[in-house]
Amino acid sequence: MKTFTTLLLAAVASTLPVLGNTYGDCQRPKAQGTQLQGCPNGTLYVSQTDPQAEYGTIQDAVESLADDDSTQYILVGSGNYHEVVNVTRKGPLTIMGMTSSPSDYTANTVFLFNSSYINQTSQTASQDNADAVVLTVSPSRNASLVGAGPTGAPLQPLFGNSDFRMYNVDIANRATVNGVEYTAGDTGPSAALFVSYANASFYECTFSSYQDTLYVGRNGSAVFVGGEVVGTTDFIYGFGTAYFENTTLSSRNTGGGLVAWKGSEEFYGPDTFGAYFNNSRVVKAADANATLDLTGTRALGRPWNNQSRVVFMNTYMSDIVLPQGFIEWSASDPRVFPNVTHFIESGSYGPGWNPSARNYSVESVISPEQAQSQYSVSAVFGGFPTWVDSVYVYN
Ligand SMILES: *[C@@H]1O[C@H](CO)[C@@H](O)[C@H](O)[C@H]1NC(C)=O
Ligand SMILES: *[C@@H]1O[C@H](CO)[C@@H](O)[C@H](O)[C@H]1NC(C)=O
Ligand SMILES: *[C@@H]1O[C@H](CO)[C@@H](O)[C@H](O)[C@H]1NC(C)=O
Ligand SMILES: *[C@@H]1O[C@H](CO)[C@@H](O)[C@H](O)[C@H]1NC(C)=O
Ligand SMILES: *[C@@H]1O[C@H](CO)[C@@H](O)[C@H](O)[C@H]1NC(C)=O
Ligand SMILES: *[C@@H]1O[C@H](CO)[C@@H](O)[C@H](O)[C@H]1NC(C)=O
Ligand SMILES: *[C@@H]1O[C@H](CO)[C@@H](O)[C@H](O)[C@H]1NC(C)=O
Ligand SMILES: *[C@@H]1O[C@H](CO)[C@@H](O)[C@H](O)[C@H]1NC(C)=O
Ligand SMILES: *[C@@H]1O[C@H](CO)[C@@H](O)[C@H](O)[C@H]1NC(C)=O
Ligand SMILES: *[C@@H]1O[C@H](CO)[C@@H](O)[C@H](O)[C@H]1NC(C)=O
Ligand SMILES: *[C@@H]1O[C@H](CO)[C@@H](O)[C@H](O)[C@H]1NC(C)=O
Ligand SMILES: *[C@@H]1O[C@H](CO)[C@@H](O)[C@H](O)[C@H]1NC(C)=O
Repeated sequence: MKTFTTLLLAAVASTLPVLGNTYGDCQRPKAQGTQLQGCPNGTLYVSQTDPQAEYGTIQDAVESLADDDSTQYILVGSGNYHEVVNVTRKGPLTIMGMTSSPSDYTANTVFLFNSSYINQTSQTASQDNADAVVLTVSPSRNASLVGAGPTGAPLQPLFGNSDFRMYNVDIANRATVNGVEYTAGDTGPSAALFVSYANASFYECTFSSYQDTLYVGRNGSAVFVGGEVVGTTDFIYGFGTAYFENTTLSSRNTGGGLVAWKGSEEFYGPDTFGAYFNNSRVVKAADANATLDLTGTRALGRPWNNQSRVVFMNTYMSDIVLPQGFIEWSASDPRVFPNVTHFIESGSYGPGWNPSARNYSVESVISPEQAQSQYSVSAVFGGFPTWVDSVYVYN
């Protein structure tokens, strides 16, 4: 039976675009004392309940690793982890969440969360969005600052993680006010994830908050496969390069754009800065206020600066999408310039794809062939990135 299944999977693998459970044997829950069977040699084990585990928090396991170039693995047992995790080391690190269904993020059993936000009304000069984050992959706080963005200080040659991978972990910033999760609207920037001066990829992970949920910043590159991003205002933002494949993009409310991106010629490396989505879904969040009518309100993106680039390919647009699609930053400061700002759709479908209402002075529509040649993972990163799990992403 096992042989038959293996053969069957091998036969269909060549025709399915996305498929994988690279660490499925390691992630599967097992009998007491045998949990590390099927895991890469040397895997550290974190659990709050299993006596076999050497660590009770994810951050303790991360901090135990040498700051060198060695490849390391951490398996995290099922449970709720109320902590902040910072990955500063350079060497490759893979964090796996325990699950018996690695290809289904709705079955994830590892929940990492913290509660913090930046109040933009009372924010002090020393406070930055980087100070209210659950998982940060960056060499230092300094390197992760959002600050004035690319028009600020020149880039420094900083090097964070060269190859960070995370599988099947749900990350939430449950911004709370007086101890109660704040669901009435935005508290201010409150991120689940920050990636700066690092390469990172995430497989069937989820990121939830309200404003500014997920950030890929200075000299940061990130690839997301499957999973979900949940938020309200500008909930995917940054000025690095972020690529999403088969990801659910869920709005708990509306505000700003789904994406707010900034590009710059001042960065190192090729001009790939932008947020790219393929084969994804723009929907109302399952846990949004049920009586809140979001129909026709969700702008796909707005330009944080005029070199913004946001590309939606083969993506399902539910009825929450604003008929005109992308928007200007604001009426008095539009920040949209032809051939400088790149807001693009290709192969959009669903009730929120309204070609006659789209605002073509802000965005353009390109053919699937052009999207494939210009905006595949390999085209965006100048070759298939060595730091991405090729079992999950083929092109
Ligand atoms: C894409 O994601 C959906 C929703 O999680 C999942 O049901 C589907 O299997 C995924 N498709 C592929 C090809 O992995
Ligand atoms: C696993 O790693 C340990 C320590 O790094 C080493 O002693 C052992 O030989 C390795 N085992 C295998 C099967 O590679
Ligand atoms: C984590 O959350 C606690 C409250 O649970 C908060 O006091 C702390 O500042 C947060 N840390 C970060 C880095 O966001
Ligand atoms: C993680 O980084 C944040 C921002 O620099 C900092 O406030 C926090 O203390 C760090 N937490 C840990 C666990 O290192
Ligand atoms: C932080 O970055 C600034 C430039 O943005 C630099 O002047 C400063 O030396 C850095 N601080 C540290 C501790 O690296
Ligand atoms: C990220 O990967 C690219 C190649 O895709 C490499 O040039 C760059 O140095 C890597 N970044 C880090 C911080 O290792
Ligand atoms: C933000 O700060 C302002 C001014 O101090 C205060 O009135 C407001 O309640 C704060 N908002 C939140 C969500 O903490
Ligand atoms: C980050 O900087 C390195 C050089 O320091 C460069 O090789 C790489 O392409 C840059 N990555 C991005 C996304 O800009
Ligand atoms: C849900 O939305 C409705 C309609 O906008 C509003 O009246 C109600 O107060 C909201 N409920 C919560 C719990 O925010
Ligand atoms: C883009 O914005 C920058 C800074 O706001 C401005 O200097 C530049 O002229 C703008 N680009 C174009 C093409 O107008
Ligand atoms: C934008 O670029 C296209 C071709 O790349 C060119 O045909 C068009 O004239 C350009 N538009 C402007 C306003 O520069
Ligand atoms: C988008 O996803 C589809 C289906 O998985 C795939 O065939 C196509 O090549 C992808 N497009 C790009 C631009 O990567």
